[in-house]
Amino acid sequence: MKIGIVGMGIMGSGIAQLSATAGHEVITTDVSRAFYDRAIVSIGKSLDKLIEKKLVNREKAQILSSISYTEDLNDFSKCDIVIEAVVENQKNKIDFFRRIEPIVSPSAVISSNTSSISITSLASSLKDPSRFVGIHFFNPVPLMNLIEIIRGVKTSKQTVDRVVEFSKSVGKEYVIVEDSPGFVTTRVIAMLINEGAFEFSEGIASREDIDKALKLGGNFPMGPLTLGDMVGLDTVVNIMDVMYESFKDPKFRAAPILRKMVEAGKLGRKSGEGFYKY
Ligand code: CAA
Repeated sequence: MKIGIVGMGIMGSGIAQLSATAGHEVITTDVSRAFYDRAIVSIGKSLDKLIEKKLVNREKAQILSSISYTEDLNDFSKCDIVIEAVVENQKNKIDFFRRIEPIVSPSAVISSNTSSISITSLASSLKDPSRFVGIHFFNPVPLMNLIEIIRGVKTSKQTVDRVVEFSKSVGKEYVIVEDSPGFVTTRVIAMLINEGAFEFSEGIASREDIDKALKLGGNFPMGPLTLGDMVGLDTVVNIMDVMYESFKDPKFRAAPILRKMVEAGKLGRKSGEGFYKY
């Protein structure tokens, strides 16, 4: 398959790596080539580890050479699946979907890796909403075993089948879920991080002990604060805000400490500091 990826941040580069490793041809775009250059370096480092552990059996150079970059969307015309992985801004996403729809073939799948925005509302921006679907990956993409496939109200069976075929081709498990704010996964994962942040702001325990408690007492691979730093605290606040607005339920309010940290530029790993320093 030919896979088009928009946005070469943490998620987009992980999706590019995964797709190229499985033998797909990948074309990417972003606002500037610097994002691609940075992503290729981190993909290279990740591949080094995976090849060393024999989790990837193909040549690194061969995988990297199948990931290209363009700033001309017409180069996406032959894509079978387009995956949007830019920041959670509904207007920018819709703007992109409207531009890409006339470029790709009528049978191409158009999708978003959004963690929380309504798939049905994104699909409505297209002339043919039946070709639109949510393809939700998890960070770090090469190591996480799930793809959550989100069916919007008008998503066709053919579109879902295509994404199932893609999920199998990249060796991931998948679940197919109906469109609902935060879907199945993010709704729970974001609440876990948010409650950990509330616990920290209430002074119940130190950040290290909150993480240790959930890691050892709940058998989570990471504590909620470490996980928040990995996901990005700005992303967590965005997700909570979308769920709060959608459900109109106060249980989804973002912890004030998270908002304050984001205002201070403490976004987690990507900015060098969140609950911890990196
Ligand atoms: N590529 C290759 N190797 C990687 C890697 C990557 N991208 N990221 C980490 N690794 C390697 C590490 O370097 C390490 O290698 P060594 O043992 O050789 O040093 C190895 O994987 C194991 O990593 P760690 O020892 O750091 O830690 P770990 O055993 O806990 O595994 C983990 C790492 C898989 C990330 C694990 O901690 C985990 O599963 N954490 C939870 C992640 C999670 O919940 N993700 C979902 C977030 S929510 C989301 O993405 C979507 C949303 O809706 C917001």
